[in-house]
Amino acid sequence: MYILGIETSCDDTAAALVTQRGGRFVVERSCVSSQIDIHKIYGGVVPEIAGRKHADSIIPVIREALGNTRPDAIAVTAGPGLVTSLVVGVEAARALSYAWGGVPIVRTNHIEGHIYSTLLGDTAPTEIIFPAMALIVSGGHTELILMRGHGDYTLIGRTRDDAVGECFDKAAKVMGLEYPGGPKISKLALEGKRDAIAFPRPMKTSDDFDFSFAGLKTSVLYYLRDNPTANHADVCASFEQAVTDVLVAKTVRAAQEYNAASVILSGGVSANRYLREGLRAALVRELPECAVLIPELQYTTDNAAMIAAAGWFHAQNKDYTPWSAITADPAWELVN
Ligand code: KG4
Ligand code: ZN
Repeated sequence: MYILGIETSCDDTAAALVTQRGGRFVVERSCVSSQIDIHKIYGGVVPEIAGRKHADSIIPVIREALGNTRPDAIAVTAGPGLVTSLVVGVEAARALSYAWGGVPIVRTNHIEGHIYSTLLGDTAPTEIIFPAMALIVSGGHTELILMRGHGDYTLIGRTRDDAVGECFDKAAKVMGLEYPGGPKISKLALEGKRDAIAFPRPMKTSDDFDFSFAGLKTSVLYYLRDNPTANHADVCASFEQAVTDVLVAKTVRAAQEYNAASVILSGGVSANRYLREGLRAALVRELPECAVLIPELQYTTDNAAMIAAAGWFHAQNKDYTPWSAITADPAWELVN
């Protein structure tokens, strides 16, 4: 079976052709057309522009991903995300399904896609070992989700205000770094001292599994206001240390409390090397039996191969939506 993934939830137009061989996912082609050069002029994603650019790019990107293959199913992101962006992918899937005589569509959740991104690539494991504790960290989400099986999700904790990626992007903006700020902060952090500034570790020791990052963002803002000649590399390194301390501490504790057999780290912020290494090291120390699943770097940020992988499991159960009934849902939460 070949599955075509389509992803247009934010500012990347993506399509991928994925199959399985010998029980592991094979990504035949994964194509991503990024809009960052346009949105960085405005310091963030402008929804109307994103929708228009998706409309320009969607057919060429799908054509490149398909090559000469007619897929057996289409997995498309239906939410969560920007509605002006989502509808472009959903309408493309609808049109293709209709034109191809009813090729089935899997209506796929973007966050579920990030979870399954850990099964992509040559070095990836072939399966998720359950129960799994998943930390999803992206521009719009920061969540701890317990997974007891495919499609079986329980929300353990989430951010009460800003998402981690949003916090990286906003902290970067006050330092004059371009959108998206996450990669720029982590690069600059390599030259700074991680203990130079004592930024807060919000909710690190709270007795729940929720997060809060708005206060940390404000601390960076105030620190720079009060110390205009501050060394930005030190600010970046100290900020990255504070974020990592909170995320690692809570994830390890959640994995212990729920007897997780594996821990998943995914979403755009999982591209952060310091976080990847910090979580891995803490788990080796505290929970040596626990498997750690972190996507290959190329699959950390938004892509369509992860949507195809998540859709694959639904396709096994014939969990399809007819082309005439599919809709985008910008507020679709994987778990509530
Ligand atoms: O998952 P994603 O591509 O899009 C959403 O679904 O939001 O995540 C994008 C987010 C942005 O906030 C970006 O700054 C952040 O991921 N990000 C990083 C890094 N690379 C991307 N944050 C920290 N360190 C990185 N290396
Ligand atoms: Zn994402």
